[in-house]
Amino acid sequence: MEYRYIGRSGLRVSPICLGTMTFGSVCNKQEAFSIMDKAYDAGINFFDTAEVYPVPPKAETVGITEELVGEWLSGKPRDSLIIATKVAGAASGWFVPPVRAGLTAIDSHHIIKGVEGSLRRLKCDYIDLYQMHWPDTIVPRDESMEAFDRLVRSGKVRYLGTSNDTAYGTTKSNMIAKFKGYKRFESIQNNFSLLNRRFLDEMAEMCISEKISLLPYSPMAGGVLSGKYNVEDNVSARFNEYRASEDPRIQAMADRFLNHKTLAATQRYMQIAEYLGISTATLAVAWSKQFSFVASTIIGARNKEQLDDSLAAIDLTLSDDILKRCDSVHADILYPMG
Ligand SMILES: NC(=O)c1ccc[n+]([C@@H]2O[C@H](COP(=O)([O-])OP(=O)(O)OC[C@H]3O[C@@H](n4cnc5c(N)ncnc54)[C@H](OP(=O)(O)O)[C@@H]3O)[C@@H](O)[C@H]2O)c1
Repeated sequence: MEYRYIGRSGLRVSPICLGTMTFGSVCNKQEAFSIMDKAYDAGINFFDTAEVYPVPPKAETVGITEELVGEWLSGKPRDSLIIATKVAGAASGWFVPPVRAGLTAIDSHHIIKGVEGSLRRLKCDYIDLYQMHWPDTIVPRDESMEAFDRLVRSGKVRYLGTSNDTAYGTTKSNMIAKFKGYKRFESIQNNFSLLNRRFLDEMAEMCISEKISLLPYSPMAGGVLSGKYNVEDNVSARFNEYRASEDPRIQAMADRFLNHKTLAATQRYMQIAEYLGISTATLAVAWSKQFSFVASTIIGARNKEQLDDSLAAIDLTLSDDILKRCDSVHADILYPMG
């Protein structure tokens, strides 16, 4: 397996990162442990979690995922793993407007409080990659960057990353860091897949030029790219399930990734995968990890059987011909020009 460095950091990670967003909701403890065991045994050394997980976030379950990961971790040599988590403002304040409204409150108080909570739940004395879950719309970036910098200098965090941000926002944060002598963001975690290539528009250029790594999440578009929704009955059942979710991000996922265009594109990707003799899920993960600016693709799995498709992508390199065929699907269906 080819391990890659994140940005300019000393973090060397497997090309697949195990996402834990559904541990404690869709997956119970036993299932979560069996998925983590299998990933670890296969050489995956990189795990991504967040203070607000599991998804969908509920007041009574917030923090459970980090606790599960922490419990599992305590039986492993800490140095053999790269643990990434994310601060969203305040897990404890998720449901207390007006103290915390919408996506705001990534202020220094919540960042410092946030790391203490994550360290406690993860049962660790440091976090390898501490990420801003999404940019704050109110608190100035100077304040967030100063607080993040303090965490690195205190030894609680090794490196910093951001998520769901723009090229402008990420560059602005890192410019502040540069001019004030703070630690910078080494990675960005954004949505990127065969069904959503928007990262290529200008984010990719920023990553290459600034040596920031992309950690793409949802490479299978939440499962759509496995092809399992290309059966009419299944689509409507799952769509309704997503739409009924209390989590607006899951509703958005259904709106964005379960429609006629994405299903038509998936149909074509399924043909390419069939030609290669692999699953469409494997094709999707292999496609996402082939970019030079990608350090590790963050996948999800409901059970350890599903993990096999992602593991199969680890040593798979897609040929130029296959990449061109994937590009044609995008050009023909998802983003036709002219
Ligand atoms: N920064 C952020 O805001 C953000 C947002 C989203 C995700 N993330 C991170 O990215 C991770 C992965 O996200 P994701 O779960 O959306 O990724 P994904 O890999 O696109 O989707 C994973 C889901 O697809 C289905 N699936 C996986 N393998 C399959 C297979 N072989 N065959 C059929 N279905 C399969 C499973 O869902 P079902 O079986 O339930 O269909 C699984 O939970 C998260 O855990 C989290 O760490 C971050």
